[in-house]
Amino acid sequence: MLKITIRGRRSGARADAYAAFAAGASPKKALEALPAAVRGKASAAAPAQPAAEGAVFTVPLEGGPAARLYVFGGGKSLEVSPRKARALLRSVARTLDRSGERSAILDFPYTLKRMNAAESREFLLRALALSDYSFPVYKTKEREKKSLVSVAVSPAGAFAGATAAEARDAAALARVAALVRDLGNTPSNDLVPRDFARRVSEEARARGLRPKVLDKKAIRREKMGGLLAVNRGSAEEPRVVVLEWRGGKRTEPPVAFVGKGVTFDSGGISIKPAEKMGDMKWDMMGAATAMGIVLGAADLRLPVNVVGIAALTENLPSGTAYKPGDIVRFRSGKTAEIDNTDAEGRVILADALDYAADWKPAAIVDFATLTGAALIALGLEAAILFTDHDDLSRALVSAGERTDERIWRLPMWEEYRENIRSDWADMKNTGGRFGGSINGAMFLKEFVDPTTPWAHLDIAATANYDREYAGYPVGATSFGVGLGLRWLKDRLR
Ligand code: BES
Ligand code: MN
Ligand code: ZN
Repeated sequence: MLKITIRGRRSGARADAYAAFAAGASPKKALEALPAAVRGKASAAAPAQPAAEGAVFTVPLEGGPAARLYVFGGGKSLEVSPRKARALLRSVARTLDRSGERSAILDFPYTLKRMNAAESREFLLRALALSDYSFPVYKTKEREKKSLVSVAVSPAGAFAGATAAEARDAAALARVAALVRDLGNTPSNDLVPRDFARRVSEEARARGLRPKVLDKKAIRREKMGGLLAVNRGSAEEPRVVVLEWRGGKRTEPPVAFVGKGVTFDSGGISIKPAEKMGDMKWDMMGAATAMGIVLGAADLRLPVNVVGIAALTENLPSGTAYKPGDIVRFRSGKTAEIDNTDAEGRVILADALDYAADWKPAAIVDFATLTGAALIALGLEAAILFTDHDDLSRALVSAGERTDERIWRLPMWEEYRENIRSDWADMKNTGGRFGGSINGAMFLKEFVDPTTPWAHLDIAATANYDREYAGYPVGATSFGVGLGLRWLKDRLR
């Protein structure tokens, strides 16, 4: 993670590199905004036309604020989408790091679409801190250390008005996001439910929280028949992790975040095809997101009560695995016929959502990589929001617009309930190919009291990418952590 500071207007501190953008309709003009010590050399070397995006030229600077000036081409418009800003910051960090620079000053001339000034600063400070994220844990020959360690941002463009306190909060949130990504990127042989519970518990204790971990015995005692059914094929025990941050009034009901934590999803007896099955190590991103939000709320000392619940298991085939045709009885007492063992997320979340009700929460938001159909519906640009509560819908959509974690609502009309009708039990765990994501949501809906505001976020499309995309590195994105915290902060107003 990069160390970010805000550069004082008259700071004389020097750095290795000075990063600027030849952006806007006239790049020469754009460079006139640079400090006098840099301006002359930059303007002389700048192209007459806007430099192509990604293009870089460098100029040595004798004297002045840095040893070398890097000028990045950045397009014609000075108002950019958040994702473009994230990608620009990542390419700057990359370029400087690969060039061996250790410290840098950044002049970022852009402002952001959809976000106000404070939200833009929060977004950019966090994106910048995360801009060098990678996961080299298993690369034995990777360069030991990155060279770029610190960036001082000029308080200009969207960074205008940034404070040290904002940089500190952004660093805390970037750390949580990096943790959530690390959990996701860790392969399933090193992240079985016990590992997830241990690592999250350590993080919680470091923040003064007291994590609660239900082991298999406790899960049996809770009669979580769904979680136990999915777990039957696995040699590893299931876990439920409960994290609580109580920053609010003692009597105030908490907000609950629930997450799907399938540390590996082979599909079980209804086994998946081999191609891309390895991607199913990320099938625990919902759980990581829920945990990350609670840890982040603790780091920011938000004056709210929050509970996070992660339901963890592997989904594997074996002689003891649950099977199509089986009928499962959940903690709530309801039953479901298992039509497809690969629709396991809803089977474990059924118990976790029912368990969350024990906290009498003011609202429940669950995160789950629930359906491949989410990719078909909205592509890679948004997660799917399901809720019957219009106010909650508005608040979550707005939060996501302002953190660039976009969500789009689909319906849960009663007509869809017919899709999951079973001849043998209260429902079945699949509803056919049509409306696949909706069928999953309809199943979950059976386990939440309709008077509790509840939202289900199907993050299958946005939790991880199979290549660098939209300024995110390959692998886990930590999508949802910023949104959840933004929504909590909005609730304080
Ligand atoms: N974890 C998967 C969903 C998934 C697929 C997430 C691809 C990310 C990328 C989930 O458990 C699953 O297998 N869902 C099935 C449901 C079906 C059997 C009703 C699916 O989407 O095919
Ligand atoms: Mn599955
Ligand atoms: Zn799954």
